[in-house]
Amino acid sequence: MGLQKEFKPQRLDNYLEGTGLKGKNLNFLTDLSREQLYSLFKAAEALEPYWRTGINLLPGKILCTMFFQPSTRTRFSTETAMLRLGGSVISESDPLNNSAAAKDESFRDTLKVVSQYANIIAIRHSDDKRVFADLPVAEVPVISCGYGNITHPTQGLLDVYTAYRALGRLEGVKILVTSPDLSRARSGHSFALGLARMGGEIIYSGPSELRTPDLVMEKIKETGAKVTVHYDCNAEQQKELIAEADLVYLPGCSVPKGQGDRGVFMERAANYYIALETLQEIQKKTGKTVGIMHSLPRFEGEFDINIDDTEHELYFKQVSFSIPVRMALIASMVGLS
Ligand code: CP
Repeated sequence: MGLQKEFKPQRLDNYLEGTGLKGKNLNFLTDLSREQLYSLFKAAEALEPYWRTGINLLPGKILCTMFFQPSTRTRFSTETAMLRLGGSVISESDPLNNSAAAKDESFRDTLKVVSQYANIIAIRHSDDKRVFADLPVAEVPVISCGYGNITHPTQGLLDVYTAYRALGRLEGVKILVTSPDLSRARSGHSFALGLARMGGEIIYSGPSELRTPDLVMEKIKETGAKVTVHYDCNAEQQKELIAEADLVYLPGCSVPKGQGDRGVFMERAANYYIALETLQEIQKKTGKTVGIMHSLPRFEGEFDINIDDTEHELYFKQVSFSIPVRMALIASMVGLS
């Protein structure tokens, strides 16, 4: 058989450098090449054994987080990742009330000032246009933890990584991305961009009047990925799409409680409900176990909670995988030296 090509010991720093992310911001997953994303995945795999114990790679480095919108997973996971890397965290979870934003300081000035304290910044904000306009003043890399309705790249990244770990590959896999509202599904947009870049096939299903934004569709098409879109499916058609897929991705609803379009999502949820029975029927007929992914938080009426205790459940595993993925991302953006 002979020796394998380029046989040598693995190096974490090579994977981190291979992402090309040192000193850069992360906004859209298609800003990275397949090779760069693959380097990030290799780094995440190397860091997986340390997601609970930690590894002291970034001592003395500081992450500052500013979440202008509510969060449980993204903020805790990003902060956990930095702490597990041996760095420190300064967190502002309610900047509109507790920071100088409450005294009308501009977002631009806040960003410039916080860059003086931080080695890396993580931001969630409702106004993607504001953030994109002001990002150039930041003097350190900025991780998007969700901007407006358009991008949530770290969620997309951890979800594509979970799919990769669950299926063992991404090229040629078929994933159904389905929601009562694809227009505001920022997790779904980021997941689709990452999957497209890694050679997966996207099957979209949603209402014709709440479509995936043109900007996202254009970015997907630029990758050359296969994408099919189905509108206003009935229950039977939706079941056929689930049977066609290796995984189903539910992006949930990022609109906060009591705000505008959340009601629209809830009104239509019944048409897109995923029953455990459907997954069991597919398994019986074809032998295939279809995984269910959801970016969480979830709402009653989106899918059967009995899926929680079955092998179809991937949404809590996504939460666990988020930590090594964000560890790899932070270490790539900050750099080890
Ligand atoms: N998935 C996600 O973004 O969850 P949080 O809103 O809790 O951060």
